[in-house]
Amino acid sequence: MEQLPYNELRIEPLTKRHELISFDSSNPELNDFLKNDALGYQDNMTSRTYLCFWDKGIVGYLTLVADTLEVEAVDESDKIDGYLYRKYPAIKIAKLAVDRRLEKRGVGRYILLAAVGKAISVSNDIGCRYITVDSKPESTGFYEKHNFKMVEKYRRGEFPKMYLNMYPIVATMRAKESLEEFEG
Ligand SMILES: CC(C)(COP(=O)(O)OP(=O)(O)OC[C@H]1O[C@@H](n2cnc3c(N)ncnc32)[C@H](O)[C@@H]1OP(=O)(O)O)[C@@H](O)C(=O)NCCC(=O)NCCS
Repeated sequence: MEQLPYNELRIEPLTKRHELISFDSSNPELNDFLKNDALGYQDNMTSRTYLCFWDKGIVGYLTLVADTLEVEAVDESDKIDGYLYRKYPAIKIAKLAVDRRLEKRGVGRYILLAAVGKAISVSNDIGCRYITVDSKPESTGFYEKHNFKMVEKYRRGEFPKMYLNMYPIVATMRAKESLEEFEG
């Protein structure tokens, strides 16, 4: 299936002016959340939703919330030496959905990239090192493809918990920044 060009996609924060009726995920619960609950949650400051547009139509959406991740849940290589607390600060992908008519054309990856970008941006102001998601069992492959790791304890649960450690991504960017300082 032909990929949608990323320069034609854009992300906008959800507002009450947006027309949501035409969006159609293959998962009815994700339709229901967007159309009936997302704005209310936003007003209550319990989640933030972002719409993904292609041309004038909504092709997907993302909902983010604050979260924590148990230290014992992450792989040894993702732990922080000498960390004094039981939980790490995280941002959670509470919802991520693509319109069923446009699945498998790169929109999910684009929205996931937007989530990582927002989480890194937040981490500049507020400590936050991981992105978490309680995946649908049929979507764990999508997250694994994008370097999320499974929390073993929840592997067989209704919603397997997964995480992405942002530290290596940010460290790579910092290394590039510091290199640039020395370039002519
Ligand atoms: C899961 C979902 C968000 C993926 O979005 P998408 O736009 O279809 O995915 P993309 O086209 O961006 O796929 C990017 C890559 O992930 C792969 N991928 C997509 N969905 C996958 C899945 N369910 N399992 C394994 N791999 C998957 C694609 O094959 C592609 O790989 P490639 O680069 O090697 O070709 C979308 O199918 C969806 O909305 N599903 C219903 C709701 C849902 O399950 N949401 C996630 C729960 S939190």
